[in-house]
Amino acid sequence: MTTDLAGLLDGARIIPVLTVPDPATAAPLADALTTGGARCVEVTFRTPDAEHVLKTMAAHGGLTVGAGTILTPRQAERAVTAGARFIVSPGLDAEVVATCRELGVPVVPGIATATELMRALRTGIDTVKLFPAEAIGGLQTLRALAAPLPQARFMPTGGIGPDQLPGYLAHPAVLAVGGSWMATPAHLEHGDYTEISRLTAQAVERSTP
Ligand code: 3PG
Repeated sequence: MTTDLAGLLDGARIIPVLTVPDPATAAPLADALTTGGARCVEVTFRTPDAEHVLKTMAAHGGLTVGAGTILTPRQAERAVTAGARFIVSPGLDAEVVATCRELGVPVVPGIATATELMRALRTGIDTVKLFPAEAIGGLQTLRALAAPLPQARFMPTGGIGPDQLPGYLAHPAVLAVGGSWMATPAHLEHGDYTEISRLTAQAVERSTP
């Protein structure tokens, strides 16, 4: 049976979205994120070694790890084999959704319009990624979509930073917020793990009532 995303998150409301070019940084990154209080992360499939990175982060033990930027059924299969507990996609793809169901993992497809959200709900999806959240109007758009479709839960992602966080998290339809600001490729390139821990701790603090 597929566990739902809320069950996997277990109250965590911040999901650092990680694009990791060098797999050698995955272990210190996992340490820095857990030091900051992160419990759940998304590793994007935008780098050649994403599977390796995902495997390392999943083996760390302190993190529930999902895979992001999953565009095809094959990528979903590879992500789950590498240890992904959930799948995130920038858009809604029926084949990716079907594959995730077969694999028994929650899938969070991206939606940006009411039509896409209606389609996701009819497919049986209850939690969607509002993407790219800030570019499509941010909290105002989320409120407008949630009003006629109150059964939807959102994971807004895209252009969000610490300043927007409390506003999103205060909306009852928001399950969690995703973002890359806590650990960027630039932080990794400079080995700035202290800053990653600091930004993660700040986000976790802002997400705690
Ligand atoms: C994603 O893949 O979910 C987004 O690119 C993350 O968005 P951000 O980089 O704007 O936080």
